[in-house]
Amino acid sequence: MSDLAFAVLRTLADGKFHSGEAMAQQLGCSRTLVWQAVHHLESEFGLTVFSVRGQGYRLPQPFTLLDVASIRAGLDEQAASVFTLALAEEIDSSNTQLMTRAAHGAPHGLVLAAERQTAGRGRLGRRWQMRLGAGLTFSLLWRFERGLSGLAGLSLVVGIAIVRALREFGAPVALKWPNDVLLEGRKLAGILIELSGDALGPAAVVVGIGLNVANPGEVDQPVANLADAGIKVGRNALLAALLNQLAQVLQQFDRDGFAAFRDEWHQMAAYLQVPVRLSFSHGEPVDGVAVGVDDSGALLVDTTSGRRIFHVGEVSLRPQA
Ligand code: BTN
Repeated sequence: MSDLAFAVLRTLADGKFHSGEAMAQQLGCSRTLVWQAVHHLESEFGLTVFSVRGQGYRLPQPFTLLDVASIRAGLDEQAASVFTLALAEEIDSSNTQLMTRAAHGAPHGLVLAAERQTAGRGRLGRRWQMRLGAGLTFSLLWRFERGLSGLAGLSLVVGIAIVRALREFGAPVALKWPNDVLLEGRKLAGILIELSGDALGPAAVVVGIGLNVANPGEVDQPVANLADAGIKVGRNALLAALLNQLAQVLQQFDRDGFAAFRDEWHQMAAYLQVPVRLSFSHGEPVDGVAVGVDDSGALLVDTTSGRRIFHVGEVSLRPQA
C-alpha cells in the first residue's frame, strides 16, 4: 500500500483538488484503492488530507518531495564530484541499507536519502522517527584508507559540517558532545556512524543523519525543529547544503584528522565551562566541568578528582543544587 500511497502523494503534492476517479484512472487502479491509499497517507504517514464531496482530495498545502535533480542543482563542484545520489521512498533504515550495500562493494560517496524509514535507528539502540516530509533522513558511505583506528573524532567532524550548513540559513545551532546538534537547547539533529573494516586497513563508514525541518510528530524525547525557530528552508536545498559541507570536512578529515578541527569544534560547542553530568549505559554518572576535547575528540572533564578523559558517554547539563 505504501507504493500506491506515494503515487497518490505525488499527484496531491501540488496542493490542488484531485478527484478519486481521476487519480484511479491515472494510476490504473480502482477508486477504493485510491481511498485506501489516502487513508494510508493519514494513518501511516501522519499527513492530513482534506476530502470534499464532489471535489476530491487535497493536501492543506503543497508538499515538496525529495528530488535528485533539485538536490544536485544545489551541490558545489566538490560535492558533485564526490557524491552519487540515490533516493528511496520507503526503507527500513538508510544506515542499514548502506551498510549492506557497502559490504557488496557500493562506491565511496554513495548517498541514500529516504522519504520514510520504517525502522530508523538512533544511537544507543534508540529509535529515530519522523512524520513524512518533516525532515531529512539520509546516510552516506565513505571509504577511508587509514583504518578504523584513525577515525576517532569523525562523528564530531560530521557535527561541524551540519552546524556550518545550518548557520548558512541563520539557525543558531550548537554541538553537544559527542555529536548532537542543538537548537535552543533541544536536539535538532542526530548522527549515527557505523563502521566496518580493519584496525589498520581500509574502512567503510556509514554516516547517518536525521534532522528535523518541521515538527516531527510524536517522538520519545523533546526535540527542536527549524520551522518552529522561524528558519524556512526546503529539504532539497538543505540536503545539498549539508552535502557541500560534508564533502569538505570529510576530505579534510581524511587528510589531517580531527586535530585540524578541534578549535572550530570548541567554538561550536554548547555546555563548555559549565557543570555537566556524564552518564553511561553502565555504571555511575560522573559530575564535573566540561573543558573541551582532545586531539582525538575525547571529552575532557574537570572533576573533584582531577581532569578525566572520556571516549563514550551522554552529556547533560548538571542541575544546580
Ligand atoms: C541519534 O541517536 O542521535 C542518531 C540518530 C540518527 C538517525 C539517522 S536517520 C538516517 C540514518 N538512518 C538511521 O536508521 N539512522 C540514521
